[in-house]
Parts: sequence; C-alpha cells; structure tokens
Amino acid sequence: MITKITRDVMEAANALRANQVIAIPTETVYGLAANGLCIPAVSEIFRVKQRPTSNPLILHFAHLDDATPYIQEFNQELKRLYDLFSPGPITYLVPKTEKVPLQITSGSELVAVRFPSHPIFSALLQAIDFPVAAPSANKYGSVSPTRAEEVFTQLNHEIPLILDGGACQYGLESTIVGMEEDRAVVYRLGSIDLDELSTALGYIPAVKNQAEHAPLAPGMVKYHYATQTPLHYITQDLKPEENIGYIFVHSIPEDFPRAQCLVLSTTGDLKEIARNLYHALITMDERGFHSIYIEKPQSEGLGLTILDRLQRATAKFNNP
Ligand code: TXA
Ligand code: MG
Repeated sequence: MITKITRDVMEAANALRANQVIAIPTETVYGLAANGLCIPAVSEIFRVKQRPTSNPLILHFAHLDDATPYIQEFNQELKRLYDLFSPGPITYLVPKTEKVPLQITSGSELVAVRFPSHPIFSALLQAIDFPVAAPSANKYGSVSPTRAEEVFTQLNHEIPLILDGGACQYGLESTIVGMEEDRAVVYRLGSIDLDELSTALGYIPAVKNQAEHAPLAPGMVKYHYATQTPLHYITQDLKPEENIGYIFVHSIPEDFPRAQCLVLSTTGDLKEIARNLYHALITMDERGFHSIYIEKPQSEGLGLTILDRLQRATAKFNNP
C-alpha cells in the first residue's frame, strides 16, 4: 500500500468511518488517528506506532459538549482553562465514564481529552460522530512530524491516508493538565506555557512530568523525541568540525560553516523556535551527519517546554 496524501476532509472522514488508521494535521503535531470507540482500530494505532499498550491515547473532540458523555467531571478550574485555551493545544486529564474503552486509557479511570483548533481537524471532527483517538504520528520514541511529508517518510506503506493540513502552527505537543486535590497539575509541558497557565489559574501549578513522579502519564519516559543521529548540546567552547550538523537558536557564529547549520528563529522568538524545532531535527537527521549539536534556548516560558523535549532527546545519547 502506498500512502496517499490528500487535502480532502471528507475522504479522511470516510476512512475514519471505515475504521482505518490515518494521519491528520493538528495545530501541535500530526496525529495518528482512528475511531476512539472501535477497539480494532485503536489496536491498529498501537501496532503502527509500535507503542506499548500501557501508554494511553488522547481522545479528540470538536467541543466540550461532544465530550460530556465520556467524562465524569470537568470542574470549574479546568472549565476556566477551557474557556481561555480551548480549542487549542491543551489536554485535560479527567475521570472517564464507562463509554471510554479501557484500551484508550490503558486501564486507567482517567481519560485525556483535547479540543484541537486546527481548522481542518476541527472540520473533520465535526463531520463524524465519534471521538478520535490520536497519538503523535511518529514511531514510538522518535521525533513528532509537523508536516505531511514527514509523516509520509515515517509511515509510508503503513497507513492508507495522510490528511495534509500544512505545517503545524505550534510545533510542540499539547500541554497536559489534570486536577489533584483542587489544584491543577501539569503532566506534560507543552505549547501552552507555564506562565500562561499560572496567569489563568492565579497560582503556579505543580509540574509532574518526570517518569518517577508520573505514574499517571507513562508516556513521560526519559528517552523520547529522539533523532537517529546522536544529538548533543552546543557548549560555549565548541569548535566547528566536518560531518557535524549544528542547530542554533537565532544566529550562526562566524567560524561555523553555514552549509552545516540551521537557525530556529532569526529573531529569537520562542514561538517560532518551537514551531521549527522538530522540523529542524528531522531535516538534520536526514542529512547523514555523524552527530548533531543543538543550542539550548532560554529556560523560561515556552523555552521550558523546548528544553524538556531536548532533555529527553539528548538523554538517549548521553547515557549509553
Ligand atoms: O498535541 C498533542 O497532544 C498530540 C496531538 C496529535 O493531539 N498528541 C500527542 O499524543 O502528543 P501522544 O500519545 O504522543 O502523547 C500523549 C501523552 C502520552 O504521553 C500519554 O501517556 C499521555 O498523554 N496520556 C494519554 N492518556 C492518558 C491517561 N489516561 N492518563 C495519563 N496519561 C495519559
Ligand atoms: Mg508522542
């Protein structure tokens, strides 16, 4: 099977209705989507992604109203976040009803729900009458695709269809938020940054995104988002060498050969850095360098999410 790339939302809707697994665009990263109520289709997501079934999936809906049959409780605190940030790159971890298959939640009584803002994905969700289960459309552990062509490279022959919605607006996965004792807790740093959340909540939420702190989110594994090529941080004393790719945050130092370098944002804008990060990693990975070195962004706001991803991506190569 050669994977077809289409811009036709109705073709994608028909594929989902036929319980096929297809790739879809979202404002964060591309997703590997299927009918979240159809167990064989959900199993096929795990198989294609090569993901352990112990790592649960997010259910996507057009509106909170569509999600109410599937969630027990969506309290005032989360409602406030919903009003501010949804539709958009935020996911809520909430108690589920019996309508959510345990295969979606890997046996947990909590389900992750998200209301995407990507216009094409929204149109798709409105065309169907079931929730869409979708992890990021990468193979387990590798970099999430932010363009249809990047999905094609990873999943050609494995899925029938990719719905092309262009380059993703945010470029980093959604922020995952849940409640613990009347306080919001962040289980995954994401495209909505901690400052935005804190302003909305009136306090700084706890961040529990390390594997040891987060039995709730088994996906928060230490090695993730990784390139094939060994990835390391650029340090101050680094000298340019042949056969190494360099990714800089906003400018290339004079002594580095431009042909071996990429820049994430010439203005140093964190949103632009986030949007270009995975694309830069994938582009460099395809160039066959011996290793890739990447500059750390500032550790505030969205920079914390970027650092979280880079930490997990470089961990694979720093602790053999
Ligand atoms: O931006 C996003 O959230 C993208 C797009 C496609 O929506 N999706 C995404 O899905 O990043 P995925 O599966 O790659 O990451 C979702 C994370 C996983 O680490 C998983 O462990 C966690 O959410 N998760 C999902 N359901 C959960 C549950 N019931 N309890 C705890 N963690 C959950
Ligand atoms: Mg993922």
